[in-house]
Amino acid sequence: MSEALLEARGIRRVFRETGEEVVVLDGVDFRLERGDFVTITGSSGSGKSTFLNILGSLDHPTEGTLLFEGKDLFALRASELDRFRLSQVGFVFQFHHLLPEMTAFENIMLPARILGTPERKARDRARELLTAIGLGDRRRHLPGELSGGERQRIAVARALMNEPKVVLADEPSGNLDERHSEQLHEMFVRLNREFGQSFVVVTHDLALAAMAPRRLVMHDGRLLPVDAQAE
Ligand SMILES: Nc1ncnc2c1ncn2[C@@H]1O[C@H](COP(=O)(O)OP(=O)(O)OP(=O)(O)O)[C@@H](O)[C@H]1O
Ligand SMILES: [Mg+2]
Repeated sequence: MSEALLEARGIRRVFRETGEEVVVLDGVDFRLERGDFVTITGSSGSGKSTFLNILGSLDHPTEGTLLFEGKDLFALRASELDRFRLSQVGFVFQFHHLLPEMTAFENIMLPARILGTPERKARDRARELLTAIGLGDRRRHLPGELSGGERQRIAVARALMNEPKVVLADEPSGNLDERHSEQLHEMFVRLNREFGQSFVVVTHDLALAAMAPRRLVMHDGRLLPVDAQAE
């Protein structure tokens, strides 16, 4: 089998709460190919965010391996792991986490500034992204001057700034009304189709889940294909 973009093997995550062990992930195996668009659903507390955080190397599993293009991520030094995350992974969360005193354009530019991308190249990319998300005319707006849906699209553009190989999104439309959710979902689908952007999206939104070519569900500490679980 060829090398996956991202592969998790036998991921276990156990939390210890006042002496008690809670097994949240109980041997999760997962493979993401380049250009894949995967959604993960599952009941509240089933471990979706826990798993996504491990996939993004924000959290360490109790056991298991995480490979990115065949490289063992948890074998990296902390500084190497930070750099990996900044350049290869784009994160989108339920709340946009945009900086309120910066314009939309400056917020999108931020990851490139941290990475040290040449200014000119970064500006071109930020402009391109603003156009791609349909907000070219909002570049000078502060987050407080944008609608919830627009803010979330800006957060997606920021996640894409450093041309990450994968975008990990945790309930990206969890805070949006139906119309804005739909717009956001359509944007994901378009970015996936047109640019081959890989996505792993955790969602409660069944309409969004249904748009993905590959759907998984977190259940009893395992990740299963949606169809297998329905049977
Ligand atoms: N840092 C932590 N310490 C202790 N327990 C934790 C920690 N993080 C998560 N948990 C527990 O792990 C379980 C899974 O949490 P997680 O946030 O992954 O669920 P989720 O599927 O994302 O739920 P939701 O759909 O509500 O966001 C929960 O029971 C939670 O209490
Ligand atoms: Mg969650």
